[in-house]
Amino acid sequence: MAALLAAEGLHKAFGAVKIAADISFTVAEGEVVGIIGPNGAGKTTLFGLLSGNVPLDKGRIRFDGLDVTGLPNHARARAGIARTYQVPRPFTHMTVAENLRVAAIFGGDLDEAECDDWVAQVLAFTGLTTRAPLLAGRLGLLDRKRHELARALATRPSLLLIDEVAAGLTDGEVDDFIALVGRIKGAGITVVWIEHVMKTMLKATDRLIALAGGEIIAEGAPDVVIADPGVRRVYLGA
Ligand SMILES: Nc1ncnc2c1ncn2[C@@H]1O[C@H](COP(=O)(O)OP(=O)(O)OP(=O)(O)O)[C@@H](O)[C@H]1O
Ligand SMILES: [Mg+2]
Repeated sequence: MAALLAAEGLHKAFGAVKIAADISFTVAEGEVVGIIGPNGAGKTTLFGLLSGNVPLDKGRIRFDGLDVTGLPNHARARAGIARTYQVPRPFTHMTVAENLRVAAIFGGDLDEAECDDWVAQVLAFTGLTTRAPLLAGRLGLLDRKRHELARALATRPSLLLIDEVAAGLTDGEVDDFIALVGRIKGAGITVVWIEHVMKTMLKATDRLIALAGGEIIAEGAPDVVIADPGVRRVYLGA
């Protein structure tokens, strides 16, 4: 499989604190890659670097045959990179469906005429059809998380970056997200998924990358990475 995404020598510091110190990895087309690491390890910042929300200090990002390092985040979105936010950021005074329309038009480059059908598909895919007319700001936790994922999917990405959807959900709800990510993969979308809930990482990913201290400390098969002594020490407190 060809690499869809290649991060090469990423460096990022906030003041004196190094968040990424020479991080390199690739993600193959069709893969689901999990990112784990302790609080503050720089997982969300890494997504910011990939999506273009956070400027890089040094390094290069290639995506789908393009060098996107110098591109602003909206251009990367148009190129096919979508992300969710750990704290969802919908337009709270717009409905669920209207939020998806905005994403489809501005991120997915669809025109008004194509939009309705596509939004209906995304609503059905994410289990939000009955929520379509509700104001996004009034959704409960589970639907808020589904909606955040739906907004990213509405942009028609080839790469979806998911930042912690499972936190605070029940075991059954977590299983629903694992199934949903399976369907996203089945639809041909490549996924990078940050999560602290280990079950998601073990069940839904093809490969894990563990971050700590600004570096990749382990990478490989999920069960092997989770059992890695270094990972257990920094992450699982073992
Ligand atoms: N814009 C910013 N300016 C300064 N420091 C920041 C900024 N964004 C993040 N940080 C700091 O960078 C470090 C990494 O934060 P980040 O949010 O990437 O961690 P994380 O791995 O996603 O953590 P969590 O698991 O808690 O979500 C933290 O110490 C955080 O306080
Ligand atoms: Mg985070």
